[in-house]
Amino acid sequence: MRCSNVPRLNKPGIAQYAEMMGHTGLGSAAVKLTARRFRHAAEITNNFHPYGIAQCVKQTLEDEFSWERMFEGAHVLMITKGFNVRHISNTIEQANQTTRNLPMSALFEPFTLKDVTLKNRIAIPPMCQYMADDGMVNDWHLVHLAGMARGGAGLVVVEATAVSPEGRITPGCAGIWSDAHAQAFVPVVKAIKAAGSVPGIQIAHAGRKASANRPWEGDDHIADGNPNGWKTIGPSPIAFGANLPKVPEEMTLDDIARVRQDFVDAARRAREAGFEWIELHFAHGYLGQSFFSEHSNQRTDAYGGSFENRSRFLLETLAAVREVWPENLPLTARFGVIEYDGRDEQTLTESIELARGFKSGGLDLLSVSVGFTIPETNIPWGPAFLGPIAERVRRETGLPVTSAWGFGTPQLAQSSIELGQLDLVSVGRAHLADPHWPYFAAKELGVENASWTLPAPYAHWLERYR
Ligand SMILES: Cc1cc2nc3c(=O)[nH]c(=O)nc-3n(C[C@H](O)[C@H](O)[C@H](O)COP(=O)(O)O)c2cc1C
Repeated sequence: MRCSNVPRLNKPGIAQYAEMMGHTGLGSAAVKLTARRFRHAAEITNNFHPYGIAQCVKQTLEDEFSWERMFEGAHVLMITKGFNVRHISNTIEQANQTTRNLPMSALFEPFTLKDVTLKNRIAIPPMCQYMADDGMVNDWHLVHLAGMARGGAGLVVVEATAVSPEGRITPGCAGIWSDAHAQAFVPVVKAIKAAGSVPGIQIAHAGRKASANRPWEGDDHIADGNPNGWKTIGPSPIAFGANLPKVPEEMTLDDIARVRQDFVDAARRAREAGFEWIELHFAHGYLGQSFFSEHSNQRTDAYGGSFENRSRFLLETLAAVREVWPENLPLTARFGVIEYDGRDEQTLTESIELARGFKSGGLDLLSVSVGFTIPETNIPWGPAFLGPIAERVRRETGLPVTSAWGFGTPQLAQSSIELGQLDLVSVGRAHLADPHWPYFAAKELGVENASWTLPAPYAHWLERYR
């Protein structure tokens, strides 16, 4: 979106605005200049999001660019809209570094949550790489995630990162159970930010689905007695079944308290590593989801049975993380709101109730997914099949939402935003196929200056020799 696309204010409007801001009695040249800046500021404040504002301020001043004037423009905006200084200056800086023009398309509109502004609605969802050594991320993760960020997505969420060694899905999964693990993320975080994207992390405990072989090495539980495997835990001694037959040990109240604390410590470390967005993995049949589902939770104490009891582990963990995760940064969760097990309306209704509880507990956004708590389900795989479900969750909870599974074509991604199904579109496998997916999406959607979804060393040449 460019300033030129915004309806202009007429001259009396400009003069009135300048007057309102205390700039009266200026010489005509100065009035013209001041008025021009104010006109833009006025247009902007009436019509735009902070990221758009920053873009427009930059564009307005491009011919006579200086930081001083940039901040003068920002100052007007702060006064008129009450934006906080740090937020607006970060936004301007980000705008200045990363793009020339904001493309015009719902998918490429910025999105603000708390103090974080994503430059567009495209998120890379967490995707395990199974390439860590004893939970430590390495050059593989750095190159992989920096590449994704350079591709132009507004948000990059690092794969399910275990809060404890036993919480890994496989021996190759990433972890953040020590300060050394957190330090290994620092270059990753820096690279994501340098590319103009926001660094997020999903923190996780795999519960009864832990201790498995990598997907391309069997995707099944590591056999008992194999030293590469470990003991699994869960709410009840009930196995997932199919390829994951290990029966987990029923967690004691001490175990529950310990894992909750592991989530808290992981969140604190994630912040120390520089992450600006956190996602609690309460989905996909892992520990959080398995506490909520009656398929896997048959406890008779305060953590099982009723809706309130099955919600307890998730709500308590969220509340404990909220205590350490900064209030001004997004705290999000991924949760399977439906199983496709024949009890869908009941599960969905309960899930929406739980999501309302998340919201009251300080959750800022929900990533709507499938439960995957049992192997016997009837999931209607297909393009964007969760779109209507996500829309319902969004509408009935008032929470911003994202979702994944088959939104990876530009038109579908765009329409999920336009239809009000999603606030952010999570595009996973399409990014594995092409880390520059946002560039191709921008081109296909007819976005102006599509090349500038990519960094300057790529964009310049793509734009110049079209
Ligand atoms: C290689 C791979 C790893 C994944 N790892 C995770 C993960 O760590 N956490 C998670 O919540 N989902 C994970 N998922 C699911 C993705 O986040 C996403 O939901 C899925 O790829 C569907 O979206 P898509 O159709 O855009 O690919 C993974 C998917 C893939 C393909």
